[in-house]
Amino acid sequence: MDTINWSNLSFGYMKTDYNVRTHYSNGQWSKPEATSSEEVTMHMAATCLHYGQEAFEGMKAFRGKDKKVRLFRMRENALRLQKSCQGIMMAELPIELFEECIIKVVKENERFVPPYESGAALYIRPLIYGTSPQVGVSPATEYTFLVFVTPVGPYFKEGFKPTPMVIMREFDRAAPLGTGTYKVGGNYAASMQSGVKAAKLGYSAVVYLDAREKKYIDECGPANFFGIKDNTYITPKSSSILPSITNKSLMQLAEDMGMKVERRPILVEELATFEEAGACGTAAVISPILKIDDLQVEKTYQFCKDGQPGRISKQLYDKLRAIQYGDEPDVHGWVTILD
Ligand code: PLP
Ligand code: COI
Repeated sequence: MDTINWSNLSFGYMKTDYNVRTHYSNGQWSKPEATSSEEVTMHMAATCLHYGQEAFEGMKAFRGKDKKVRLFRMRENALRLQKSCQGIMMAELPIELFEECIIKVVKENERFVPPYESGAALYIRPLIYGTSPQVGVSPATEYTFLVFVTPVGPYFKEGFKPTPMVIMREFDRAAPLGTGTYKVGGNYAASMQSGVKAAKLGYSAVVYLDAREKKYIDECGPANFFGIKDNTYITPKSSSILPSITNKSLMQLAEDMGMKVERRPILVEELATFEEAGACGTAAVISPILKIDDLQVEKTYQFCKDGQPGRISKQLYDKLRAIQYGDEPDVHGWVTILD
C-alpha cells in the first residue's frame, strides 16, 4: 500500500480491500455485503457465461483539496444500468440500492482514493450478470450485482495529449438497432478484433462508423466522439452508441461557456472541417485526437497541428476536472460528497 505510486498509475486492476455484492432471486435483492474475495463462483450453465447476460458501468471517485471524496454523476450511472438491464432482459437494480452499494464500496476502500495532487482517481466498476442456469436462450431468474474499485490513471497512455485513432471499415461494433446503446459485455467482445488490430498498428482507438451506411461517425472505442468548429461542440446522434455521461456533461459545459451545441449525424468527410476533435468518457476523460486515418480509403484527418490539445478541448477538460475534484462549484448538482 505504501508503495503505490499515485502519480504514475495506469488504467489497470489493483487489488483493493473489499468489493460489495447483492444477489437477486425470487424477485428480491439481498442486503448488500462487502467481501474481500476477488473470486465469484456460479453454475456452469449461468446465462452470463453462455448468452452474454452481463452489463457494467464505469464511474469515478475523486479526492478534493479538502480531502473529501466526491462521486461524479452516480445517479446517471444507476439509470443507465437500468436501461442496460432492460436491453438484455435482466432484473433491474433499484437506483437506491445501486447508490448504497457504490457508497459502501468507496467508503470501505477509502484508503485507495488517490490524493488530490496525483491527478488520479478511484475507478468504480459495477457489474450485473445472470447466474441461474438456462440451456435454451432465455433470461436468467437470478442475478448478481457486484461493485469493485481500483485506483487508476489515464486510459490512453498519452493522458491529456493528442493521440492517433483509426477508421477500419471492415469492422462494426454494434448494429443500428442492436445493443450499442447498452453497456453490455457483448459490445466490447465485438470490438476486440478491431481494437487489437488498431493497437498493433500504433493507434489508441478505433473510430467506428454507423454500420448501416458507413457514412457517419459513431464513437471512439470506449468513448464518445466530439468535434469543435466555429465555437460549436458537435457530437454524433446515433442509435448504436453508448449515451456517454461525460459527453452529456461536456455538452452542458460547452453551453455554459457560450458555445453552440449540436447533436446530429456527422459525415466522415466533415472531419476535415473540425478545428479540434476528441474522445470523451469516464476512463478517457477527454483524449484529444491527433489524427484519424481512414485506412481503406487512404485518407487522413489531422487535428492538433502543433501536437498540442486544442484550446477549447483544454478549457472543457479543465472545467470538468475542476468540478470533479471540487475546485469549482458544482452548479449542476453532479457531485455526491461522502461524509
Ligand atoms: N462509449 C463507450 C462504448 C464506452 O464504453 C464508454 C465508457 O463508459 C463511453 C462511450 C463513455 O461513457 P461515459 O462518459 O458515461 O463513461
Ligand atoms: C469507462 O469509461 O468507464 C469505460 O467503461 C470504458 C471501459 C470500457 C474501459
